[in-house]
This record gives sequence, C-alpha cells and structure tokens, in this order.
Amino acid sequence: MNSKLKPKNIKTCFQESRKTKKAIGQFNFSSFEQIKGIVEAARKMKTPVILGTSEGEISFFGITEAISLRNGYRTTFPYIYLNLDHGKDIPLIKKAIDSGYDSVHFDGSQLPLKDNIKKTKEIVKYAHRKGCLVEGEIKSIKGGSVIHKILFRIRKKGFEDVGIAKKFVKETGVDSLAINIGNIHGTYRGSKRLNINLLKDIHKKIPAFLVLHGGSATNQKDIKKAIKNGITKININTETRIVWRKSLEKSLRKDSIKPYEILTPVVEGIKQKIEQKIKLFTTK
Ligand code: 13P
Repeated sequence: MNSKLKPKNIKTCFQESRKTKKAIGQFNFSSFEQIKGIVEAARKMKTPVILGTSEGEISFFGITEAISLRNGYRTTFPYIYLNLDHGKDIPLIKKAIDSGYDSVHFDGSQLPLKDNIKKTKEIVKYAHRKGCLVEGEIKSIKGGSVIHKILFRIRKKGFEDVGIAKKFVKETGVDSLAINIGNIHGTYRGSKRLNINLLKDIHKKIPAFLVLHGGSATNQKDIKKAIKNGITKININTETRIVWRKSLEKSLRKDSIKPYEILTPVVEGIKQKIEQKIKLFTTK
C-alpha cells in the first residue's frame, strides 16, 4: 500500500465529504469491466468511491466475489467501499453485513411508515454491531436504471416530507437518508432537475448524511448546488451501463476473440465516465 494513504472507514469519508462540501460517488456494477474501470478512476483521482450492488446485481456477481475484489483492490488503494443498494430482502441484507459490506441501504419505502421504521431500526441495530452503516428511504425513488424514452418531469407528489423524515431519522438511528427532491432513476429526454429549496430545508433539520439517488443525466448545475447544500453521496448507474454496452458493441465489431483485447476499451470507457463524475462531485 502507498505509505501516504492511511486507511479510513466509510463514516470518516462521509464526514470529510460533508465538511469539505464534496460528494462521494456510488457507482453500481455487475461485471468485472465495470468494477475495474471504477477502481482505476478512483485510484487515478485519489478519491474514495463506493461500489454499489443492487439485489439483482449482487445475485449475479456474488457477495463473496465482490468482497474479495474490494479487499484485493484495497491493498493498493484503501478508499474502496461496498454498499448494498435498495436492499429489501432481510436475509440478503444480513448476509451482506456479515460478509463485511461497509454499508447497506434498506429500502423500506414500500412499507407503511410504522413498519418501515420498525424494520429499519432492527437493521440499524444489527449493522452497527458489526461496524456497518445503514441508509434509509421513506419516499420511494421511482424509475429504474435504464433508458426511459419519456420526457423528464419533476413529480412533486413523491417529495420528501421534512417532518416525517426528521422523525424517521431520530427513531431509526440511520446514518444516511436517500431523499426525494425530484430525483428519479434512469435517463429521460431532457436533463433531470432537483428541488434545491427543499434540500436546504432537509439539510437544516436533519442530521443524517443525505444521499442523492438517480444521479445519471441530472442537470450539472443542480448537482453542484445539491453538493453545496448538503448532499454527501451521489448514486450513478444508468450512465455507466450505457457506456458499458456501447463500448462493448463497438469493440465486438473488431476481429478478435481475446477477452482482454475486447474488454480493454470497455474498462477505459467506464474509467473515463467515472473520472468525469468524480470531477463533477469534487470540484467547486
Ligand atoms: P441512475 O441509474 O439514475 O444513475 O441512479 C442510480 C441509483 O440511484 C442507484 O441506487
């Protein structure tokens, strides 16, 4: 390990992000090309990153495999963390915690508030005993990490209720909260916009770290304003999935059957995309 780099836990990274008004990126993956591209970008930019795995992504990739790779990469660059994204299946969440995930996102947003609070609280208790952080969610963040053909429009109906969010954070003890300020998963026609005034209010009243889901194709000025006003983590998936597919298709047109030749431009494409995002999230 580079002797100048001191290992830090994920909580310290969040605290530093909040203090310096820089957001930490969570980049989802389900293939080796993606994880390699993400880690190479983080290492080059000397910036912590969170590797995100949804339930679908991790059932394909494997918890043991994800942990092994994170541990391996950490020997040369220590600021690589793993988060279970939108976990709904309690046994899977517990398995991720037991296996050494740095954080888990329990998405109880489909449950009645009372049940969401009860289940989130149980997970917080279980996770904290093992040094794992927990992200909660109240107002479901809609969409999916795919290309949507419809025009983006802000949906006020799903906006965070600040009073409920305050009660949820206090009663559950979550470390971070996935908030709904107009954000939605996936890409749409037109860039996605955020309600910054609502964010300011949430930031003023809620002590938890604030997470922005649905980071792909969001208006860049809104991203900057969101970071300035309290967002400490931003999740990106669709944009990297698009790069993965396009660069793979292009590469497959060449006459090769060597995976390391075909996949090198894919890793490079992902790396460049992550570098752009890290720059956006960390420069004022
Ligand atoms: P995007 O697919 O819009 O980047 O959102 C990813 C995300 O929020 C994962 O939880």
